[in-house]
Amino acid sequence: MITAVYPGSFDPATYGHLDVISRASVSFDRVVVGVLNNSAKSPLFSVEERVRMIQYAVRDLANVEVRSFSGLTIGFARECQAKVIVRGLRAVTDFEYELQMAQTNRVLAPDVDTIFLTTSLEYAYVSSTIMKEVARYGGDLSRFAPPQITDALVKRLQELPPHK
Ligand code: PNS
Repeated sequence: MITAVYPGSFDPATYGHLDVISRASVSFDRVVVGVLNNSAKSPLFSVEERVRMIQYAVRDLANVEVRSFSGLTIGFARECQAKVIVRGLRAVTDFEYELQMAQTNRVLAPDVDTIFLTTSLEYAYVSSTIMKEVARYGGDLSRFAPPQITDALVKRLQELPPHK
């Protein structure tokens, strides 16, 4: 039984993230999505909100769990008894940061491997940051994330003071 963790900020999750989750759920027996609880990054959504949004989006995937975590990804991997960390790679620009993270995690936990899934081409341009930018200026969000997430995003931005 191979468990994989898929860690990230997911502020909020996009179709790119959901694509990685559903593909990982085919390759691994159990996938635990780990939403990083990092107040230093001042996310738009609380960690509970981010967890709930993903839980709803993956409700049909029986072998996927969604949890929050604090601290190191390898600590979370150990807690979940995972031997694999999954990350998505969109473009070569992601590579340097991802390689550094994977190598750091390998030094910290040589028994846990990082496996990269290349994001499906139709989602290669999608990121939470770009989605938030489009949302701020009232653009069409239908290609970025499911309606439950984009509706929550639009609502959250309306609640914020204009400069945030
Ligand atoms: O979605 P993101 O922001 O690209 O995810 C980054 C994440 C959460 C995977 C990374 O910041 C992380 O692993 N944070 C936990 C702290 C940690 O383990 N650091 C050591 C690896 S660099």
